[in-house]
Amino acid sequence: MAASTPDARNEIHVSTDTSAIAPARHFIANEFVDSISGQTFDVVNPVTEQVVTTAARGDVDDVGAAVGAAQQAFESGEWSRAKPSFRRQVLMKAADLIDARYPEILRREALEMGHPIGNPVQGPSRSAWNLRFFAMEQELAGDHAFNRDDNLRTYTMSDPVGVFAVISPWNAPFMLSTWKLAPALAYGNSVVHKPSELSPLSIGVLGEIFQEAGLPAGAYNTVLGFGKEAGAPLVEHHDVVGVTFTGSPGTARDIATRVAPQLKRTSFELGGKSAVLVFADADLSRCVPTVAAGIFSNTGQLCIAGSRILVQRPIYDQFIEAFAAEAAGWVPGDPNDPATRLGPIVNKAQYDKVTGYIDVARSEGRVLHGGGRPAGRDTGYFVEPTIIVDVEPTARVCQEEIFGPVAVVMPFDTAEEALAIANGTDYGLAGYIWSESQRTVHDVAARLHTGMIWANCFFERDLRQPFGGVKQSGMGREGGGHSREFFTETRFVAFPTTPR
Ligand code: NAI
Ligand code: MG
Repeated sequence: MAASTPDARNEIHVSTDTSAIAPARHFIANEFVDSISGQTFDVVNPVTEQVVTTAARGDVDDVGAAVGAAQQAFESGEWSRAKPSFRRQVLMKAADLIDARYPEILRREALEMGHPIGNPVQGPSRSAWNLRFFAMEQELAGDHAFNRDDNLRTYTMSDPVGVFAVISPWNAPFMLSTWKLAPALAYGNSVVHKPSELSPLSIGVLGEIFQEAGLPAGAYNTVLGFGKEAGAPLVEHHDVVGVTFTGSPGTARDIATRVAPQLKRTSFELGGKSAVLVFADADLSRCVPTVAAGIFSNTGQLCIAGSRILVQRPIYDQFIEAFAAEAAGWVPGDPNDPATRLGPIVNKAQYDKVTGYIDVARSEGRVLHGGGRPAGRDTGYFVEPTIIVDVEPTARVCQEEIFGPVAVVMPFDTAEEALAIANGTDYGLAGYIWSESQRTVHDVAARLHTGMIWANCFFERDLRQPFGGVKQSGMGREGGGHSREFFTETRFVAFPTTPR
């Protein structure tokens, strides 16, 4: 599942020397700048728990400067009215530059949030794909013309809208940012991006890349800082026409409330408590390693993590045994070591949240595997891969998003029972089905109430297909034409061919 490029990996110099990391700055109108206030915040390495550098701490004034630059760029037409072929060339070049700087981006992500360089989940290579895909999509997509009526010709136009706010999380900082920046820019908009305060380092590479690729100044801007200080004034800014956000449902509600008076468009990709349904006829030799990757990759800090594993009773004991053996192979380690699969949790607050849930699990059920700090690791926000069993589907650890390497495993007898458990949460992001029966796969897929379903695989993507969730997992879809619809204003023209 995880994209990996062995050639690029060999170029990475494993280094504990972090003195080379310069302070992270905002990127506004094609220049890297400090905050107007001069304020900064610390960037902490989750392995050493030490400050590695600082980042500019943006507020309403920096947001104002960035939105101003973005609006000016939009009005100039240099990007918003550029030919689709020009936009394609710039984004293609930027994608090539992402590929060229792959090791550096990985190293920065490892430093800021602990993502293992040797085991990226659709990391920088997926980011380059995001740019290439939307570079092509915007050029190839057509509008609609309806000419059937004898004397009425009609057609649509998809125009860029204006300045979009992109608010991104820390769990896949570079990839999730490009997933939204690429379509926003491809369709001719300007962007002000507010990355997570937990991951302000890797994104700086993108500003340099867009400079070099020839993106007109002001089309892309980054303001670093905290949600309330930089994110909130950004979404509220009068000249921001829409907000695309990935993060927690609570923040989505706050953003929705802030933009409601101005009736801005929003797209929300939120959390999940996704169920994995393993039927008795599943191919366990393929299923077990993939299900493990679905909850332990990126230390479980994945919106689509398969965190509730439901196993049909005839194979339950066999599955549990194989799954625990597989989990033992996810040894926590230094993310800068290419052999490491399981890095640390991003920061102290998330570490406390994850270990807090493991404590809850001890009273709600039984910790079958892991459940603690790995032996010999006294420093760093490390948690063992953890498996919880003997727990009711209504338990907190079965209902709430833990966002760590913690799986709950429950038995079921019938598909109906499994579906009732799977659908019995407030979330509805992803669902996973493991069965060798096509009939079971399609029948269960039709009745799983989630935005995305993966059968006998994990996170395989076709970027034309919608990404997003139902219920508390999100509002709206992005991907292919869904992104085009969100990031453009579709208008319609009619003209009669005979006088009216
Ligand atoms: P968060 O939702 O607070 O942060 C995501 C982004 O929103 C960050 O860039 C943050 O600065 C920004 N933000 C926060 N408050 C804002 C506001 N009022 N206005 C505008 N922007 C704002 O997520 P957080 O606190 O980092 O993580 C908490 C939990 O959220 C995690 O434990 C996990 O359960 C969930 N989460 C889910 C993600 C996903 O991929 N679906 C990603 C990140 C977090
Ligand atoms: Mg927060």
